[in-house]
Amino acid sequence: MDFLQSIHQKFLSLYGQQPLFVRSPARINLIGEHTDYNYGYVLPAAIDKELLFAVAPNKVNQFRIFAYNFDDYVLIENQPLVPQTNKNKWTNYLMGVVVQLQKLGFTVPTFDCVFGGNIPKGAGLSSSAAVECGLALALNTIFDFKLSKLDLVKISQKAENEFVGVQCGIMDQFANTFGLKDQVILLDCKNLDYQLFPLQLNDYQLILLDTDVHHSLASSEYNTRRKQCEAGVNILKKYEPYVNSLRDVNRETLEKYKKEFDYTIWKRCDYVVKENERVLAVCQSLKNADIEDVGRKMFASHLGLQYDYEVSCPELDFLVTFAANDGSVVGSRMMGGGFGGCTINIVRKEKAKSFIQRATYAYAQHNGKKLKAYPIKIADGTSICEN
Ligand code: GLA
Repeated sequence: MDFLQSIHQKFLSLYGQQPLFVRSPARINLIGEHTDYNYGYVLPAAIDKELLFAVAPNKVNQFRIFAYNFDDYVLIENQPLVPQTNKNKWTNYLMGVVVQLQKLGFTVPTFDCVFGGNIPKGAGLSSSAAVECGLALALNTIFDFKLSKLDLVKISQKAENEFVGVQCGIMDQFANTFGLKDQVILLDCKNLDYQLFPLQLNDYQLILLDTDVHHSLASSEYNTRRKQCEAGVNILKKYEPYVNSLRDVNRETLEKYKKEFDYTIWKRCDYVVKENERVLAVCQSLKNADIEDVGRKMFASHLGLQYDYEVSCPELDFLVTFAANDGSVVGSRMMGGGFGGCTINIVRKEKAKSFIQRATYAYAQHNGKKLKAYPIKIADGTSICEN
């Protein structure tokens, strides 16, 4: 039985009615880290790790949700919804979407839901955006809210900001919803214009290496970085009133006012300005089919994240250094918010298997942990699927 059938069976046995099915993918980010909330550029894509949702309206005046992966069933009364702090915290990603729809003035009737999939949790692949955006599309469809894809992205991001309480940018939800097979998305987070670039890897492939590290400081440090970037903007604004975000700043401007900055704030801003440049340079390299240059920019991005933005961790640094010294890898860097999760690697296809073996051995020698490796492909964004 394939996974869709398992979800279907569970849905039928719990609720005895036919659902709508939606698939909702994880995301990667080729380059452009911690630039989204600075209104800069990112280059993410949806991938072939996904959640499946089965959803249908019900008449019992309760939201009934079954999380297949946790084997957990929760009933939520149709009353003003408040974030959960107990073991049902995972429902916040779903109910946050309902609350945002309500805030927009929609009446959201109660529904039945089963969801689950193969996105590794805590690996920095944005399973949270997959939960939010998957449900958002399902509800938009079954209740005919007629919201656009971009509306669903914004609703999902707000659900995470306001109901889950994580101040993420828009990259994850955008990539989840606008992803297209074999393409990366150049998203301008200032005006949400986007452009798709074919990712023709030819002799190479993408491999994610999962540190299996999840630092608890990730979300507090994330918010600190946001504040540090804002502090930098406030300094620059005094001299250059047109500066509203780090997106409006180039190297020269930053350099000009360097002495006004505390060194830490300056390093953070310097990283963001350079990372934005790297995203655009990588798009040019993709056009030129220059994968080696894409790889060089990825290594440069990692160094910036490690030393200037300081959101890496020893395990990520170990894996990137290992990759840099392995002849089969052209590019490697930490991916996502940082302090754990995965590295993204561009690896020569014919050497991919042996690279994974070498990395797994080295990682185990280094810290006794079993490395998980995910060879991935770029896939379509969230969509309705046929049973
Ligand atoms: C997390 C956030 C994104 C983005 C990345 C860093 O994944 O959810 O919005 O800020 O970190 O690039």
